[in-house]
Amino acid sequence: STVLVLNGPNLGRLGSREPDVYGSANLDDLRALLTASAPDGVTIDLRQTDDEAELIHWLYEAVDNSLPVIINPAAFTHYSYALRDAAALVTTAGLELIEVHISNPHARETFRHTSVVSAIATGVIAGLGFDSYRLALDFVTRKH
Ligand code: DQA
Repeated sequence: STVLVLNGPNLGRLGSREPDVYGSANLDDLRALLTASAPDGVTIDLRQTDDEAELIHWLYEAVDNSLPVIINPAAFTHYSYALRDAAALVTTAGLELIEVHISNPHARETFRHTSVVSAIATGVIAGLGFDSYRLALDFVTRKH
């Protein structure tokens, strides 16, 4: 089986972007970490885009192929109703969608305290660095 791990805008700059907030590891390091922690037979399909439409189309792909989703919507988290509606298609299809954040948005600027995605997500994990993704992967690949 495959798990889609989707990353929104500016996360392609991980490693050099605000390392005090996001750490010095990049998306290739994240892919390697998740691939190493995935159970046998689970493929990690990790992607990043700065493009809202592309992210939305990847959520359609999750619905069409019945794939669980781990998504860091990045700044779209805070204002993209289009992304939220697409994410809702995933969870209303009965598929798991875990919202993850590297930092803890609640400990940062006020505009980051709102997530328009959380209410339709299966769950939310934030503030644990790359472990936010690792724990989400653990959840979606566990038999439950
Ligand atoms: C983020 C938090 C968002 O507020 C921010 O816009 C990001 C990254 C995180 O992973 O901590 O780009 O989603």
